[in-house]
Amino acid sequence: MQSPQQAIEIGYLSGFGNEFSSEALPGALPVGQNSPQKVPYGLYAELLSGTAFTVPRAEARRTWLYRIRPSACHGQYRRLERQLDAQLGPVTPNRLRWNPLPHAGDATDFLDGLTCLAANAEPNQPAGASLYTYAANQSMQRVFFDADGELLIVPQQGALRLVTELGVLDVTPLEIAVIPRGMRFRVELLEATARGYVCENHGCALRLPDLGPIGSNGLANPRDFLTPVARYEDRDEPVQQVQKFLGELWATELDHSPLDVVAWHGNNVPYKYDLRRFNTIGTVSFDHPDPSIFTVLTSPSAIHGMANIDFVIFPPRWMVAENTFRPPWFHRNLMNEFMGLITGEYDAKADGFSPGGASLHNCMSAHGPDNATTVKAIEVELAPHKIDQTMAFMFETGSVLRPTARALECPQLQSDYDACWSGMRKTFDAENR
Ligand SMILES: [Fe+2]
Repeated sequence: MQSPQQAIEIGYLSGFGNEFSSEALPGALPVGQNSPQKVPYGLYAELLSGTAFTVPRAEARRTWLYRIRPSACHGQYRRLERQLDAQLGPVTPNRLRWNPLPHAGDATDFLDGLTCLAANAEPNQPAGASLYTYAANQSMQRVFFDADGELLIVPQQGALRLVTELGVLDVTPLEIAVIPRGMRFRVELLEATARGYVCENHGCALRLPDLGPIGSNGLANPRDFLTPVARYEDRDEPVQQVQKFLGELWATELDHSPLDVVAWHGNNVPYKYDLRRFNTIGTVSFDHPDPSIFTVLTSPSAIHGMANIDFVIFPPRWMVAENTFRPPWFHRNLMNEFMGLITGEYDAKADGFSPGGASLHNCMSAHGPDNATTVKAIEVELAPHKIDQTMAFMFETGSVLRPTARALECPQLQSDYDACWSGMRKTFDAENR
């Protein structure tokens, strides 16, 4: 097992959706064809497709892998005794908010440290999302892949090393990483503990949003997305390979590392992105823009313009709007909003929403800034000011998110969340415009 502390040389390729290629040994990539009779260095050719073969070309994602052994070399999977507890709880229209879930106590790796908080997916449908927090204090000794969706990992505390089939991604808080559906990887901890959020996207793969009238630049720029260069493990030693399949964990024992891809080319790739590079765009006149202006990545649904999942951030930014109530306005939306906080404070809440915590506001649930924030925002003398040292985010979905039974029963669920809007003073005066 590679020591997480051991310095390794990590290289990245820049861009989003590109047809990348990388080889860890010179000449390992076949030239001019995908699966020649004899692959250089005696490697095996294997295709990993992330979309149906016949989707429009712009949608297609697939990668050719040149590996020491085909992925097919494994025995039977057996269902693991320890499963992810993702049983959904009773339906509730209530607004929900959680304090940060605790750090891991016993020896816990990333996979064991996943807690499902909410989901809107049927496991056999290619749509929806499951939302988790994680808390770990051990590097994974095993290898995992998720047949149910791609994984968007949002570290909140503690740097991670994601050792994937295509190479290595080091990810720190304020960065995110995405692992394609089905890709084998191992999560190593670069610090004693790690905590964060995961969106398991069962629908269309995440992509950059269209920019419309914004033009050809802005928001998350393609060149800031980083994909690892090829790096392989040539290890003939036992390793457990776990997969998530229709919501259940299954495992098989391999006699070699499955992270043995020496060269690859394609666009179905893992990547990371530094949220601090997001080119935040907002009003320079008046009124608070719709939060869609903060979309980093989107997974479209079958309904045009309605996301299966939007990943939206609320980064540091200047507030300059004149004659404007500057926090997010009160709203009741069609879309369903799961929020988390990586660091700092969120500008709509005075307290109660802490880094590592979460909130859920489903379809048509009324919400907005809390009482204290509202009073202050109405009375403050407006001047340009910078919201700084903060990073909140939202997973916004087109289908209602149901909290899990565990999320509804855990002590971190705040019983008094509604109270943050109580005591809102009646300021209406028919005689005084
Ligand atoms: Fe909202």
